[in-house]
Amino acid sequence: MHISTEAVQIGLDWDSRTGAVTVPIYQTATFRHPGLGQSTGYDYSRSGNPTRQALEEGIARLDGGARGFAYASGMAAITNLLLLFQRGDHLVVTEDLYGGTYRLFEQIFHQYGLEFTYVDTSSLDEVAAALKPNTKALFVESLTNPLLKVADIKALSNLCRERQLLCIVDNTFLTPYLLRPLDLGADITVYSASKYLAGHNDTIAGLVVAKDQQLAERIYFLQNSVGAVLGPQDSCW
Ligand SMILES: Cc1ncc(COP(=O)(O)O)c(C=O)c1O
Repeated sequence: MHISTEAVQIGLDWDSRTGAVTVPIYQTATFRHPGLGQSTGYDYSRSGNPTRQALEEGIARLDGGARGFAYASGMAAITNLLLLFQRGDHLVVTEDLYGGTYRLFEQIFHQYGLEFTYVDTSSLDEVAAALKPNTKALFVESLTNPLLKVADIKALSNLCRERQLLCIVDNTFLTPYLLRPLDLGADITVYSASKYLAGHNDTIAGLVVAKDQQLAERIYFLQNSVGAVLGPQDSCW
């Protein structure tokens, strides 16, 4: 199916109870259980909200991943992903990086013991040369902000697989319309959906897609534990 067909179908047939053809905004914190030991599948909107879920399933479909996650901003999404790592872990990162991401890495995560090396990720050789025994991941902007340098995601993903590193791609500037990093071997995509994905300059949002279910479970644990989720109003676009 063409991506534009996929995109317009997101959220259709969502509400079997009413038949609403667009996703209703479930503006609720808590969901009542039908009875003792019974569940609708929802209990508390931090853990899961049908409106947010429609968006999460939509981005997972557009990106070809196992599961999507929606956050209150792109920075909240990136923060959640960085919690996959532990003190002493090293990440190789695009040097021409969105300034807010650089600030998060250097001024916040650095003080919790994460180590970052910034390289030109349009050069496979520079990335390979920056790897260390404690490197756990590559964080790469597929098209960098601000200089619009292009990374070879397939080659970088192959390198990551060989060295058993997570390949995380900030695909904000390209969106799944122009590039699907998971198809090229990346493990995780992350977006500032505040830009082209939401598209109308009226929402701050972040999205993540995990390629496989095992990774998705780890990310869901972090999303639910930290709670920087996207609200139902902002999930509906
Ligand atoms: C490439 C990139 N990643 C992440 C972000 C952060 O996203 P947000 O502003 O939604 O927190 C931005 C914001 O400009 C960005 O350009």
